[in-house]
Amino acid sequence: MQLNIKIQGETLNLTQEILDRYNVAGPRYTSYPTAPEWLDSFGPADYEAALQQSNEIRPVRPLSIYMHLPFCERLCLFCGCNVVINRNHDVAIPYLEKLKWEIHQLSLRLDTSRPIIQFHWGGGTPTYLNAAQLEDLFNYAKERFIFAPDAEIGVEVDPRVTREVQLQTLRRLGFNRISMGIQDFNPEVQQRVRRIQPYEETKALFEACRALNFESINIDLIYGLPLQTPDSFLDSVEKVIGLGPDRVAMFSYAHVPWLKKQQGSLSRLVPQGMDKFNIFRAGIERFTQAGYLYIGMDHFARPNDELCLAQKSRALHRNFQGYTTKAGADLIALGVSSISGINRVYAQNHRDLKDYYAAIDGNTLPIMRGMRLDDDDIIRRAVISKLLCHCVLHKREIESEFNIRFDEYFADALLQLEGLQHDGLVTLSPDTISVTQLGRIFIRNAGMAFDKYLQKPKSKPVFSKTL
Ligand SMILES: C[S@@+](CC[C@H](N)C(=O)[O-])C[C@H]1O[C@@H](n2cnc3c(N)ncnc32)[C@H](O)[C@@H]1O
Ligand code: SF4
Repeated sequence: MQLNIKIQGETLNLTQEILDRYNVAGPRYTSYPTAPEWLDSFGPADYEAALQQSNEIRPVRPLSIYMHLPFCERLCLFCGCNVVINRNHDVAIPYLEKLKWEIHQLSLRLDTSRPIIQFHWGGGTPTYLNAAQLEDLFNYAKERFIFAPDAEIGVEVDPRVTREVQLQTLRRLGFNRISMGIQDFNPEVQQRVRRIQPYEETKALFEACRALNFESINIDLIYGLPLQTPDSFLDSVEKVIGLGPDRVAMFSYAHVPWLKKQQGSLSRLVPQGMDKFNIFRAGIERFTQAGYLYIGMDHFARPNDELCLAQKSRALHRNFQGYTTKAGADLIALGVSSISGINRVYAQNHRDLKDYYAAIDGNTLPIMRGMRLDDDDIIRRAVISKLLCHCVLHKREIESEFNIRFDEYFADALLQLEGLQHDGLVTLSPDTISVTQLGRIFIRNAGMAFDKYLQKPKSKPVFSKTL
């Protein structure tokens, strides 16, 4: 079967065969090597060493701080995040104490003259905390670290539980970016995934954010949810375009019931293959027609947004929060399950609240696993990151940065990419590897050609499908 898809004025052809070949389980590459490769033997002492070494690197590396606030009142059935569900908000009180302990300990180990250029609260639902708690937590960090004057300070909000007073507080504290979870406006879909979120309520919150002059508002949607059809999803997309966010993340529903048990109840209803693709197609065509540019990997932004400008000038980067314009920063993550990326090291905090509390009660940094990258990891990480961010890789850049001969070092990967070239997803030349418009849809597959760990047999499923 032949399919057309129109992206940014260009009509692309796709066949069922190509869809089947490339819609396979694969990583999202917010890190390389990906989390399943990290080692349980990596512990707090390794993390402390990485923190100390990072202070000594010249030029000084700025900081990006992420705090995970895991609480939500109810569980959305599709949710793939690390969450703690409790309607009793008192559970946040001990958590905030532990988080402050972590902030303080990190401020003792990091050179605090290193400026924070990016600060983000994710979840869960950060606005599960009341305005006073938000203020207290932010001030606690602010007293211990220095924020760059133009720091990006962002927060994820769930419009169903967020009140204007919380937004006012966040704005007053200096938050300038907001990311809002919507997922889908269709009442039947909402009911099926147990997330009831009326359009009017969301619109009111969006307008409150605009009135408070947040510099950038992002909206999250998910395609591939149960009961979605291209038409029903298009209706949600139309409503989002009407709101006019600066950025849109249109996530592919990651159905991983082996990791998230509650998703199992949706398995029978999840659109797959061509059905899921048609929902994606409806979204991508409409957003690009409305003037948003497709950055790749689920993300859209207005043409004058710094993400688009950074992609054009090849200054875009990728970390655990997705695409970012802030390069060269060490990502320090705090809170249960959060992941740090410091120069050559990844480290993850305990995923279970009990273990996280126990480590802190024992006076140790709550690291559960991590990895120190070897030279080969570093080279492959750079290649995958450049491909995913810029859609074009200049071999000579990699050769001069790492002192390798690209075609020899990556002979196997180049052979794999010939298949992608044959299917119109990449173009290979002696000096470059370029991802085509069609290839952007399957960009993870281009990255996968360089991932040496994918060759290792896995005992159980690990990743969701690429589309
Ligand atoms: C931490 S939540 C955002 C804030 C808030 N908790 C909310 O839901 O509004 C981050 C985003 O992850 C996305 N997400 C959650 N589970 C997902 C899944 N299984 N597949 C794809 N995206 C998912 C949703 O779009 C959600 O808005
Ligand atoms: S999608 Fe958001 S609100 Fe729903 S359970 Fe997950 S983190 Fe909580």
